[in-house]
Amino acid sequence: MLRLKLAGRSPWVMALVCAAALGMLLISEFSYWRSSAALDKLVAEHALSGAPHQDISADSADLHATLMLGRIGVAGLSLASLLALVMYLRQTLALKRRQQEVQRLIQAERDRLGAEVVQRTAQLTELAHHLQTAREDERHRLARDLHDELGALLTSAKLDAARIRSRLAGGSPEALERLAHLVQTLNSGIALKRRIVEDLRPSALAALGLVPTLEILANEFAEPSGIAVHCALKAVNLSPASQLVAYRLVQESLTNIAKHAKATQVWLSMTGHEGSVEVAVRDDGSGFDTAALPRSAYGLVGMRYRVEAEHGTLAVESAPGLGTLIRMTLPAAAATETAPG
Ligand SMILES: Nc1ncnc2c1ncn2[C@@H]1O[C@H](COP(=O)(O)OP(=O)(O)OP(=O)(O)O)[C@@H](O)[C@H]1O
Ligand SMILES: [Mg+2]
Repeated sequence: MLRLKLAGRSPWVMALVCAAALGMLLISEFSYWRSSAALDKLVAEHALSGAPHQDISADSADLHATLMLGRIGVAGLSLASLLALVMYLRQTLALKRRQQEVQRLIQAERDRLGAEVVQRTAQLTELAHHLQTAREDERHRLARDLHDELGALLTSAKLDAARIRSRLAGGSPEALERLAHLVQTLNSGIALKRRIVEDLRPSALAALGLVPTLEILANEFAEPSGIAVHCALKAVNLSPASQLVAYRLVQESLTNIAKHAKATQVWLSMTGHEGSVEVAVRDDGSGFDTAALPRSAYGLVGMRYRVEAEHGTLAVESAPGLGTLIRMTLPAAAATETAPG
């Protein structure tokens, strides 16, 4: 770590150490020249004083040699420390470069994985949208077959029963009673078929519009469950696809309330803002921890995909004991796209 810090400031460290080495060199040169000059002066003074010349010149040569040795030592030491520092910094810089390269590789890998996650998420969203559309198409086809074919069969059976009854007029009371039971069963079958068809494909949506369809849904929920539903529904501009999403969201929210909430009151609202439409379902039930959804629950997850596929947003606000609010915002449709709603 210290090495890398040093390497990060290498120009300054180099400059400082060079200055210190040069300083040492200069001081050593200066003291060498001063000491040599003083020594020469002493030798000269000694010669002038008439003392024997031989001894002093031998000592002065020794001292000169010692001074020179010291000078060479200091210069060598300065150069060696400079060289060691240069090598040390080179190594440290190489280490730093290696670390930067590893960081770059890690970042590149992270970017690649991030891009892959984004791509996979987009693919999954597209797949979920496709599956939802296919499911809705399949429900439409099933509803049409049930309505046309099963409806025709049941109606024809009812006509036959009516004809038989007219033939049996004044006949066996037991046969008449059985026939009446048969007609009753056929009527129940027709009512059941109508309910299934309506559940598969809310025909009221196209025929009456979103507001009356949601009111019918709310009434059909309130009656059997005994939960009061307060509706505040304004007519809005939504494309047919978004209307179906809004309908399915309210349907799923009401089913969840019946299944999980133990609520006594429900508030259903729909309002149009500038360029967007908000649909909200709120209940005063048990609520739940939104961060701990069960893994096997697909209702809200599926709704989120459907809403996002229509470029909307879904918010789930809830806490244990505080009821639940499911709020969806969808973009409003251009005037030409609008279905009655
Ligand atoms: N209005 C609500 N009141 C209380 N709990 C709720 C409410 N709505 C949802 N929950 C909780 O959130 C969970 C997830 O709901 P979600 O609709 O996704 O799944 P589910 O209803 O359990 O199963 P399904 O896949 O059949 O819809 C539920 O299991 C329930 O615990
Ligand atoms: Mg559910």
